[in-house]
Amino acid sequence: MTQQDEQKEAVAQAAAAHVRENLPQGALLGVGTGSTANRFIAALAPFRERLGGAVASSEASRERLTALGIRVVDLNEVTELALYVDGADEIDPGLSMLKGGGGALTREKIVAAAARVFVCIADAKKRVPVLGKFPLPVEVIPMATNLVARAFTELGGAPRLRAGFVTDNGNVILDVHGLAIPDPLALEARINQIPGVVTNGLFAQRGADILLLGTETGILRFERTRDGSPESKD
Ligand code: 5RP
Repeated sequence: MTQQDEQKEAVAQAAAAHVRENLPQGALLGVGTGSTANRFIAALAPFRERLGGAVASSEASRERLTALGIRVVDLNEVTELALYVDGADEIDPGLSMLKGGGGALTREKIVAAAARVFVCIADAKKRVPVLGKFPLPVEVIPMATNLVARAFTELGGAPRLRAGFVTDNGNVILDVHGLAIPDPLALEARINQIPGVVTNGLFAQRGADILLLGTETGILRFERTRDGSPESKD
């Protein structure tokens, strides 16, 4: 196992422990997508009977949860989730994230919006001072691909169509390289105004509340404070 994989496993186990300690028996859990989220799903197995069920952020996660015997519930049957647990491609010191490397950003944003607390699980490589080194994934209605791509070029980015990829919602992904993202909240809102954009991978308006970060020396925990600024709880 690589060091990065070890850190993913450690934060997945820590998030499962957080769920076991904080989620009331029989409550529903929001579950993210990706290799870190997959490890988290596996870590739920020992106490799956205590979960009322899960809302999945992708068909891939739905299949994994179902295979484990965890009931998957449609979000329309749920008014609120206590917790949402997911990975990130990048996370900044304000706990804003860049997500969508796995292409599940739209459903991830929807399920996250229904949750009271967003727990981000990430290995050390994901923590960055400023978002944007990882290309920004944007889900786009297929007929608007070229229109949206031109808008990103005007914004100073270099959009590339994710080849051979169709989202769970039947759309395409543009990965936008080279964007400077000093203000993720403002850029998230601006991109949402481009006609044809379904969702962009900036999670700033609804950032993480808790970050469990795997590092060489163990897990660091960061928590958003009441005034919105994150503080270390390690
Ligand atoms: C999927 C995502 C993932 O959370 C993100 O890509 C991180 O993935 P991984 O845990 O495999 O590094 O946003 O759409």
